[in-house]
Amino acid sequence: MITDEELVALAARARHAAYAPYSEYTVGAALLSKSGKVYTGCNVENAAYSLTICAERTAVAKAVSEGEREFEAIAVVTANGGTPCGACRQVLAEFGLDMRVLIATPKRLIRKETVSSLLPGAFGAQNLP
Ligand code: THU
Repeated sequence: MITDEELVALAARARHAAYAPYSEYTVGAALLSKSGKVYTGCNVENAAYSLTICAERTAVAKAVSEGEREFEAIAVVTANGGTPCGACRQVLAEFGLDMRVLIATPKRLIRKETVSSLLPGAFGAQNLP
């Protein structure tokens, strides 16, 4: 079983692939599925800025496209311990409010949260008629 520190280390490594020529703010993510596999992601920016994809959503898309739907935890690594943006919180909420969110720098695990603690009152399937 992978430890939280190991998941953070995988996110830190994934961050090296970030494509962030505009903001220069690189982000790495490592998403642990309940099946025990890890899917990494990085941010991928675009000259049309709004098309940028965050690291967390890259990891979710990779995992779901491989057939995964249930997740234990995601580690997110930035230079300064930045937290997942609102859009990523909503995307993570789709796959489980109990998912743990590890917020870290390459050197230190700073905060342990859950999706529900980061996004209280998330919009979900229950809101749809
Ligand atoms: N970014 C992420 O990858 N994840 C987040 O949760 C916050 C922001 C990226 C998007 C953009 O490439 C850069 O960080 C600055 O906003």
